[in-house]
Amino acid sequence: MLEGYLTVALAKGRLAKKTMELFEKIGITCREMEDEKTRKLIFVNEELKMRFFLAKANDVPTYVEYGAADMGVVGKDTIAEENRALYEVLDLGFGKCRMCVCGPASAKKLLLNHEQIRVATKYPLIAKSYFNDQKHQTVEIIKLNGSIELAPIVGLSEVIVDIVETGSTLRENGLEALEEVMPLSARVIVNRVSMKRENERITAIIKKLKECI
Ligand code: PRP
Repeated sequence: MLEGYLTVALAKGRLAKKTMELFEKIGITCREMEDEKTRKLIFVNEELKMRFFLAKANDVPTYVEYGAADMGVVGKDTIAEENRALYEVLDLGFGKCRMCVCGPASAKKLLLNHEQIRVATKYPLIAKSYFNDQKHQTVEIIKLNGSIELAPIVGLSEVIVDIVETGSTLRENGLEALEEVMPLSARVIVNRVSMKRENERITAIIKKLKECI
C-alpha cells in the first residue's frame, strides 16, 4: 500500500481492457496503459493519485488480500478458486460465462446415480465444494492446467468442471454442459483494511461504476 495512492490490480488480457474502458467512462483514465507495446508493469495517474498494475488472473486476489493492491478486478471463477480473505463488492456484468460440469451425454446417469466418478478440472476447490458440499457426492478430483475437454475424450475422467462461454469447444468435441455450478462474470474485489482506510474514495468509485453498468 503506497501512502496516498489507490492501487488497482487488473487481470491481464481482455478483462483488463474492458475494465479500463469502464473506468474511463467514470473519469478514471491511465494514458500510460494505452501503449500496447509497453513492457511496463505498473502505471500511474498522478493527478488522481491512482496506480494500476497487470497481473496473472490467479494472482489478483493474492495482491488484494495482502493489501499490495487496494482493489482488483477479476473473474468470479478465480475469486471462488482462490478463496482469499477479501471483499467482493460489485458484479461488473461483463465477461459473462458459466462454470459447468460437462461431459458426454452418457455421463448424465453417472451424475444422477451419484457414482464415484473422476472429475478433471483447472478449478479443484470449486469442483470439490460443488460435489462434496452441494451434491454430497464423493468424487476423485484430477487437477489439469488447460484443454480440460480432452480428459473425458481420452478417458482420464468421466466429467470435467470447466468454463463454458459460447459452448463451441464442447460441441466440437462431442461434449455438453450437464450441470451448472455457478454463473461467472468480472467482479470488483477490495482489501479488507483498505475498505476502512480508503472508504470514501473506494465507495465513490463503486457508486460511479454502479451508475455506469
Ligand atoms: C476456456 C475454457 C473452455 C473454453 C470455453 O478455455 O476452459 O475450454 O474457454 O469457451 P467456449 O464455450 O466459448 O468454447 P481457454 O481458452 O481459456 O483455455 P484453456 O483450455 O487453456 O483453459
